[in-house]
Amino acid sequence: MITRQAAQQMDQEDPLAGFRSRFVGEADHALYMDGNSMGRQPKEAEALVGQALAAWREQLIVAWREWIRVPRRIGDLIATSILEAKPGEVIVGDSTSVNLYKAAAAALSAQPGRRTILTSDDNFPTDLYMLQSLAAQHSLELKLLPADPVNGLNGAVLRSALGPEVALVALSHVAYRSGALLDMGEMTRMAHAAGALALWDVSHSAGSVQVPHSGCRRRSRRACGSRCGAGSATASSSRWRTSSRRRRASSRSWSASRRSFPPSRSSPACAASRKQGSAACRPRDRS
Ligand SMILES: Cc1ncc(COP(=O)(O)O)c(C=O)c1O
Repeated sequence: MITRQAAQQMDQEDPLAGFRSRFVGEADHALYMDGNSMGRQPKEAEALVGQALAAWREQLIVAWREWIRVPRRIGDLIATSILEAKPGEVIVGDSTSVNLYKAAAAALSAQPGRRTILTSDDNFPTDLYMLQSLAAQHSLELKLLPADPVNGLNGAVLRSALGPEVALVALSHVAYRSGALLDMGEMTRMAHAAGALALWDVSHSAGSVQVPHSGCRRRSRRACGSRCGAGSATASSSRWRTSSRRRRASSRSWSASRRSFPPSRSSPACAASRKQGSAACRPRDRS
């Protein structure tokens, strides 16, 4: 059993201890453990939101010149400090469910001819709903593998369900209810050996336990959704996939168009912003 004194000693030696004072609510002394869903508010949050509102107010559409870079900038930070991934492999945006949906849809379209999705019956409810709807849309079979209520999905159960018809194995690294930690590297290897892709929800492991990306890299067939920091359950999440998958499994939006940003000097928004003294518009479009 750990004594109070030993716990206090561990607190003192904790390299993250200094971060406590950067969050509001120090005075209440409550042991607030719900960091995964709605963490305490960082003290800087109010000022940072104020800065974003000021940029919107003062720069109008030109504010996108910086905002458009934020998903990659924060993604690189998450990649290198939390996920042990490489810069350029993590992008921040959308919610976990939307990211998982997009990653699963891309994975399924990369696996024509394979008609089965595997997941565990203890997976997070939204992940299951998302997989159910994808399976229904594409006339695929979704198999729910029975997970142990304490230890989670057993590797042998997964192995016996894998076969040439399996397109995708979609699992949570840490089970949201039991806390069971799956062997991500080994299960990914099993999926790859059967020609399937693996999609991991690391909402409850990123930042808490090591996420073994390196073990999953061998055939570069992984994608994951993670939710980090003090965000609420619907906070922005990040999506990771290895670089060699990126070209085949990409979804694009208007912001991917090179012609979209920054606004041309001739655009009405840019004219308005020039009046206010901003020079942040690019030269006139040649087209
Ligand atoms: C493991 C897990 N996956 C997915 C989600 C859904 O997250 P979101 O509401 O951000 O889509 C949650 C939310 O708590 C979660 O805990």
